[in-house]
Amino acid sequence: TFKHRVFSGIQPSGGLTLGNYLGAIKRFVDMQDQGIETLYCVVDMHAITVWQDPEALRRQTRELAAGYLAAGLNPDRSILFNQSQVPEHAQLGWIFNCVARMGWMNRMTQWKDKAGKNAEKASLGLFAYPSLMAADILLYHATHVPVGEDQKQHVELTRDIAAKFNNDYDVAFFPLTEPVIEGAATRVMSLRDGSKKMSKSDPSDMSRINMTDDADTIAKKIRKAKTDPEPLPDTMKGLDDRPEARNLVRIYAALAEMTPDQVLADFGGQQFSAFKPALVDLAVDKLAPISTEMARLMQDPAEIDRILAGGAARARAIATPILERTYDIVGM
Ligand code: ADP
Ligand code: NA
Repeated sequence: TFKHRVFSGIQPSGGLTLGNYLGAIKRFVDMQDQGIETLYCVVDMHAITVWQDPEALRRQTRELAAGYLAAGLNPDRSILFNQSQVPEHAQLGWIFNCVARMGWMNRMTQWKDKAGKNAEKASLGLFAYPSLMAADILLYHATHVPVGEDQKQHVELTRDIAAKFNNDYDVAFFPLTEPVIEGAATRVMSLRDGSKKMSKSDPSDMSRINMTDDADTIAKKIRKAKTDPEPLPDTMKGLDDRPEARNLVRIYAALAEMTPDQVLADFGGQQFSAFKPALVDLAVDKLAPISTEMARLMQDPAEIDRILAGGAARARAIATPILERTYDIVGM
């Protein structure tokens, strides 16, 4: 009974990585191009759950919008906006803070990772982050959320919040949203350590490929990526104990829009000395034009602001009646 509608967001908390591109943005573009109704957000309110320099936050907000646009999001077809410009996110987030349980938040692995042993010093916002994320999604009655693997648990929590709200108020108001975690690169790993996720929130990892990197930098980083001395096997099964090799094959597959096994059908039996140059060519071919376009867009910040303002107005037109109805259900 709910219309197919896609929502997803990315935090403007640092430079976009290849992980964000393959695990999220590239798939956002695919969904837009399939003609689905799509809303994509710069989630600045999530970014400030850890301190952000105000000028850097403003720049990163525009840069993320530029990344969306450069990768192929079309502001006439997708609604592109900045979370804080739609205050209904915070309003619904508060209601969900009253629906969600402390124990649910305590079980979130991202909370445990990010707060670490020093949970007493973490912001209350960081703890409540998944509740605001549920509001981001459910404010639009979104049915599908394309994300990387690391966000699966948060989308499941969104379903728990929707189900509890529906149950507490005896309504069938919020959809049980599905995470959409597909493709070859749902978890891109660090190029220097195959056991760690490539993340924009980890500035110490100089091996990560950024969406703003130029062709030479992309090539250099791939050439330096950690590998092993074995030739590539014929199927992915043979890479079970070779995380760095597996990661590079998956990156190739995602960039080439192939399955990893199709990549190995081409490269099985070959050494990294042959595979890496092919990956360099492919990555430069696919990524360098995006970074060039991002740089061009960043020269006109007023135009980016105009696009985000237009998107916020369209987002609010969907959000307002849903929030009003929510208030009504709650008795406010
Ligand atoms: P980050 O973890 O890089 O700070 P966010 O938390 O803002 O990024 O996540 C933005 C989107 O990018 C989410 O859908 C997330 O699952 C996806 N994503 C982040 N890192 C990766 C990765 N290494 N591989 C695949 N997807 C990723
Ligand atoms: Na993340």
